Amino acid sequence: MGSWGQPLEERIRSRTAQVGIVGLGYVGLPLGVEFAKAGFSVTGIDVSESKAAQVNAGDSYVLDVPSAVLRPLVETGKVRATADFAVLRELDTVNICVPTPLRKTKDPDMSYIDAACREIARYFHPGMLIILESTTYPGTTDEFVLPMLERSGMRVGQEFFLCFSPERVDPGNPKYQTSNIPKVVGGITPACTRIGSLFYEQALQNVVPVSSTKVAEMVKLLENTFRMINIGLVNEMALMCDRMGINVWEMIDAAATKPFGFMPFYPGPGLGGHCIPIDPFYLSWKTRQAGIEARFIELAGYINGQMPHFVVDKVQNALNDVAKPLKGSRIHVMGVAYKRDIDDLRESPALDVMHLLKRRGALLSYSDPYIPQLTLDGQEVYAVAPETVAAEADCVVIVTDHSAFDYAALLEQARLIVDTRNALKGFTSEKIVRL
Ligand SMILES: NC(=O)c1ccc[n+]([C@@H]2O[C@H](COP(=O)([O-])OP(=O)(O)OC[C@H]3O[C@@H](n4cnc5c(N)ncnc54)[C@H](O)[C@@H]3O)[C@@H](O)[C@H]2O)c1
Repeated sequence: MGSWGQPLEERIRSRTAQVGIVGLGYVGLPLGVEFAKAGFSVTGIDVSESKAAQVNAGDSYVLDVPSAVLRPLVETGKVRATADFAVLRELDTVNICVPTPLRKTKDPDMSYIDAACREIARYFHPGMLIILESTTYPGTTDEFVLPMLERSGMRVGQEFFLCFSPERVDPGNPKYQTSNIPKVVGGITPACTRIGSLFYEQALQNVVPVSSTKVAEMVKLLENTFRMINIGLVNEMALMCDRMGINVWEMIDAAATKPFGFMPFYPGPGLGGHCIPIDPFYLSWKTRQAGIEARFIELAGYINGQMPHFVVDKVQNALNDVAKPLKGSRIHVMGVAYKRDIDDLRESPALDVMHLLKRRGALLSYSDPYIPQLTLDGQEVYAVAPETVAAEADCVVIVTDHSAFDYAALLEQARLIVDTRNALKGFTSEKIVRL
């Protein structure tokens, strides 16, 4: 392994290795906190000076990291944050947790990984362990990141160590968080995998080594493609059931009683978040270069993309049934975050639903305890309390089923409710129109 692996392993085992996290978002901050809790000194580096300042003040902006947990770690010097990459000179390990969005053309946007790696290359020194965590196409670590680091003249597996480890965090999940979600890790060389695994074993409960960075990259894409396609399937089922007058929710619950060979997925207003609507297109972009069309992905993407239109048609039809045109009607949207009980609006289908409703002339308002304001078609819109508007609205649309909402009170106040999440399961009323 050369002379640099041994001392790095020792520093990791003794937890004296200086840990760096590049990108302090939903992924990076919880990860850094886990390593700090395990006794490491952790330095977060983010291009956002305000995020670095907030971390240094002990104020968390990530729901899964309570400030009560972060603050003592900052006060005892275990966590610090900066926007100055020169600190990389002092660090032994670096986890890259920067965004990987899509360009408008649905091609991977590698600019964040590129920028992060350029900074790392600038302050690169022997004995470093670099781990890419951002979700990306298979081949990124060895074809994109490795050449940038090898320009230093150092040899991978000997003078530095490079791995990919997919981030599988599920924000807002009370049962599975960073520390107890098994961590898959694959290195460029066996020494890289060994040191990368050793590193995660210090802070996380279960580490799963795999034979290469490509396998590790593909694991994440399989998981997210699996979800995307199954959601696409069940959304198509919802369209079929609607046409045939079958309650799709009751049907899925009954199917889910099968104790083997079935896993329930649920329909909804469309896909949201930073992962499921985006990551599979990283895979289809890459496979296209290899001459394979990822047809399941394209089909599921198409069906899922139709769901906001389907919801808006449902609203229009529901209003027609009470002799009201959608144009000029007051529509109140309940929940805009991309899923229940989180504060993340990225790619939320609520934005599509609201945009389409507005385009058809509806007058909009919304409630969301986690999202106080949003921008819709270039205009600022502010959340209002449901009880102030539900009674006046011509139709309420439940887009995100936050558990903080009082659904019984809503049903009492509202005149008409289109429920895209089965939030009103167990309630029976003429007012309810289910997906
Ligand atoms: N959020 C999730 O639930 C989740 C789950 C699994 C995987 N992922 C993946 O993890 C990665 C990070 O996602 P996230 O949700 O934490 O994103 P995020 O937007 O919450 O955080 C990314 C952070 O990186 C910072 N940043 C951007 N460019 C930078 C640079 N060049 N150097 C340093 N910092 C930089 C941003 O300011 C931001 O704070 C993405 O690839 C995402 O697909 C996210």
